[in-house]
Amino acid sequence: MRRTWKFLVGLLVGLAALTGTADQLMQRTLRRWFERDLQLRSDLVLHGMERALSTALQLRDSQRVADLLIDITRDDRIMAAALCSRDGQIAVATPELPAELHCPAVLERIRQAAALPLRDAISLHTGRVHLTLLPFAEATQQPTVIALVHDLSFVDRRESAGRAFLLVAFFVLGAAASILALLLSRGLWRSWTDTLRRQLRSDVSEEEFQPLVSEVRALVGELSRVRDHDRQEGRWSPARLRDVLRSYVQGEQVLLLANREPYIHTRDASGQITVLHPASGLVTAVEPVMRACSGVWIAHGSGSADRETADADGRLRVPPGSKEEDRYWLRRVWLTEDEERGYYYGFANEGLWALCHLAHARPEFRGHDFEQYRHVNQRFADAVCAEAQTEDPIVLVQDYHFALAPALIRQRLPKAMIITFWHIPWPSAERFGICPWHRELLAGLLGSSIVGFHTQAHCNNFLEAVDRFLESRIDHSHNAVVRRGHTTLVRPYPISIAWPNPWAEQAPSVSACRESVRKELGLSSDALIGLGIDRIDYTKGIEERLLAAEALLEQHPELRGRFVFVQLGAPSRTVIPRYRALNESLEALAARINERFGTDRYKPIVFSRAHHEPPTVFRYYRAAEFCYVSSLHDGMNLVAKEFIAARDDEQSVLLLSQFAGAAHELTEALIVNPYDIGQASAAMHAALTMTAAAQRDRMRALRSLVAEFNVYRWAGRMLLDAARLRERERLKHRLRETSTSASAPDLPAWARFGVPL
Ligand code: G6P
Repeated sequence: MRRTWKFLVGLLVGLAALTGTADQLMQRTLRRWFERDLQLRSDLVLHGMERALSTALQLRDSQRVADLLIDITRDDRIMAAALCSRDGQIAVATPELPAELHCPAVLERIRQAAALPLRDAISLHTGRVHLTLLPFAEATQQPTVIALVHDLSFVDRRESAGRAFLLVAFFVLGAAASILALLLSRGLWRSWTDTLRRQLRSDVSEEEFQPLVSEVRALVGELSRVRDHDRQEGRWSPARLRDVLRSYVQGEQVLLLANREPYIHTRDASGQITVLHPASGLVTAVEPVMRACSGVWIAHGSGSADRETADADGRLRVPPGSKEEDRYWLRRVWLTEDEERGYYYGFANEGLWALCHLAHARPEFRGHDFEQYRHVNQRFADAVCAEAQTEDPIVLVQDYHFALAPALIRQRLPKAMIITFWHIPWPSAERFGICPWHRELLAGLLGSSIVGFHTQAHCNNFLEAVDRFLESRIDHSHNAVVRRGHTTLVRPYPISIAWPNPWAEQAPSVSACRESVRKELGLSSDALIGLGIDRIDYTKGIEERLLAAEALLEQHPELRGRFVFVQLGAPSRTVIPRYRALNESLEALAARINERFGTDRYKPIVFSRAHHEPPTVFRYYRAAEFCYVSSLHDGMNLVAKEFIAARDDEQSVLLLSQFAGAAHELTEALIVNPYDIGQASAAMHAALTMTAAAQRDRMRALRSLVAEFNVYRWAGRMLLDAARLRERERLKHRLRETSTSASAPDLPAWARFGVPL
């Protein structure tokens, strides 16, 4: 558009200059035409008078000469006439003759004109008149001249009318020709760009720039292929996840960084080495993903027999005893006691865990702990980089233990695709600002390509914190942060479990599970079991859960002797005083309730404070009448989803805290406020008295939801986003190169602007 305007302005200036020159030319030409015309006319007039004039001169009849001259001036274009002899003897003139053209002046002009061609007429301009001098010698001895003065006003009139007409015609024709030329050149340009576009679309071209264009086209094609996969219907499975890795992430190496290892080797009291599956939602979710993706899991080697079961570099193949296609590497990192105390117990768990959960525990922030946290993050980042076989691996950073690692890894592997997932809630910006090192933590996380949370609300909190505390630009339309030229996407990816679930599939029948649990706990055959399974953590609302069970027995005496609430509690982080205190208070609470409603043969609360392996956990899930997940605050909570997976009989009821992330998805659960003990105990009663059909309806809906939104989908969607981001970055990079390359042609608009995320 701007170019067209410039062209038009140039065109006008050019036309004006041309018109000026043409005007001068026209003026000169018209003058010449009119002069010749006047000359002819003068000759004719004189010719008609010649004889009479000669006679009058011979008779020396001045009056007659004057009359004849007056007759000549009857032609309205001849204003005046004079007859002058060269010796000055004869000088007759009509009255209108201007004084400056009387005979002396005429003769002077003739003299100035050098040679007086007395046989030819000459023309002189004097003001607005034209003077024609005609030789007239026959009748006198003296050469004589007749001067005819023509009124030029008609010439001027005609001249200006002619000029105006010619000028307009010239201008119109010029403009028309220019516009025609413009249209013609536009047509030619369009046909050239069409040819270029056709070349872009064609597979083979010999044009010099074709390789570049082909590459850009391939990247755009890849982007839309990734988007199409994302829209594909159908359930996610390990095979589909593998396919995503192979097809969209070019099978690139996957490095997973998580503090907790999936297999802990311990030496028991008898000297035997056993493998433990830790009680960790993170491990539950991520382990099946690693089986599908292979790669390397980098974690803290925390088991008493971990060193002796790994090689000198802390590496071993896991899962122990599984098929080769399911295997991946576990790389253990050894921490000193001091490091573990500062980084894991101190900053991560007494600091960040308490900060991120709204569960009324005061976060403890100590400078020394943060020093260790920083130092250990560097050590793990180094381990990740040491495992990287390419310059652009996919690094999956897990949880609040590694907020600084993404930026540290990015420094060493700038091209890595770093996907960080925060498994716990992210608090409001105001609360996050309590942490003295909040800026450093945010900057560390923004080293990631993608930062994932369970819910959009947590994403919003994170973006708000970045907005408030860091110099950066938030791109709200894409949920992204741009800082120092680096973009980090911030997205919700609700985590889940493997489906079909291997532990559920391996479990005995529901009746066998029920029977074995009743037997194990010494319960009667008509016992009703309520269940809670957690790490013993103050965020899980275990106290509130036991209080609800107490309230149930209080309000429903008919359940006393029959209803038992079983709490399987895995001791966790017991080095921390807050956790130790919780263990003690829970023991005391269970004892108090048992004291209140128990008998010699009946204990309403079974509190099993021990680590339980998945087969046991699943046996209990299948034996229970209901399972109560009463978190006071939780990112997601996978116990809820595991319980659903365990109930292929479509029976039993899930009671779920409204403060667990899972409550956003599992709406067919009985949703309760765990702080409202009366409401929770009423929900327990509703579960125990719910009809089989109602239980089936709810459980069926919950199962199909978890089946659909399984952990392969969680991982797959993150990887697809990462693949899309990577292609987009590559495309942007290529386009930037293209635009700075002098030899490259202008790329079409779709390639420059139309690259969707
Ligand atoms: C939560 C955290 C995990 C952690 C798990 C068990 O689920 O998000 O990162 O692994 O608790 O805690 P622990 O401290 O025993 O690893």
